[in-house]
Amino acid sequence: MIEVRKADWKDCKDLYELASKEEIRSASFHPEKIEFQDHENWLKKILKSENEIIYVLFIDNVFAGQLRFSLTNDFCTIGISLNEKARGKNLAVFLFNKAYVELRNNYKNIRQIKAFIKNENIRSQNYFKKLGFSFFKNTTINNCDAQEWIFDIGKVLL
Ligand SMILES: CC(C)(COP(=O)(O)OP(=O)(O)OC[C@H]1O[C@@H](n2cnc3c(N)ncnc32)[C@H](O)[C@@H]1OP(=O)(O)O)[C@@H](O)C(=O)NCCC(=O)NCCS
Repeated sequence: MIEVRKADWKDCKDLYELASKEEIRSASFHPEKIEFQDHENWLKKILKSENEIIYVLFIDNVFAGQLRFSLTNDFCTIGISLNEKARGKNLAVFLFNKAYVELRNNYKNIRQIKAFIKNENIRSQNYFKKLGFSFFKNTTINNCDAQEWIFDIGKVLL
C-alpha cells in the first residue's frame, strides 16, 4: 500500500535518518552532517510555519521518502528525497503528483515551482524533466554549480 500524507512530529526520526544518508547530504547545498538536536529544532520550526509543507511517503507502512515545498510569494521551491530502495519505481513521480494536487488546490497564489539541482545530479535533473520541469538557468548556490528548473502551475499531470 502506498500512502502520502503531511509530515508531523512522529516523522522526526525517519526524516533525520533519510537526511543523514551520505548521498542525500551530498545532493544537498548544505552537505555538512546534521546533529539530531538541530534537526529537531529545524523540524519544529518547519511544522509550525505556514510557508513550509512536507509530505511523507510510506510503502506498506514503511517510511520511503519526503517532498517539501517552501513557499515564497507566488512561487515555491521543491526538495525531494527517497530512500534508496524506493528509487527507480516511479514512486517519486507519484509523490510529486499527490503533493502537486494539494499545492494547486490549497495554495492558489502559487504560480511556479522551482527546483535547484547540482550540476552533477543527473538523475535528479532527469527526474524533474520527466515531471515536466524545464531547465531555466545555470546558477551558483553555496559555491556549488547548479541548475534552476521551473514548472508552471497549470501543466497537465503525468
Ligand atoms: C531525485 C529522486 C527523488 C528521483 O527519484 P527516482 O525514483 O530516483 O527517479 P526515477 O528513477 O524516476 O529517475 C528519473 C529519471 O532519471 C533517469 N535515471 C535513473 N537512474 C539514473 C542514473 N543512475 N543516472 C542518471 N539518470 C538516471 C531515468 O531517465 C529516469 O527516468 P525514466 O524513468 O523515464 O527512465 C531520487 O533519485 C533521490 O531521492 N535522490 C537523492 C536525493 C536527491 O538528489 N534529491 C534531489 C535534490 S535536487
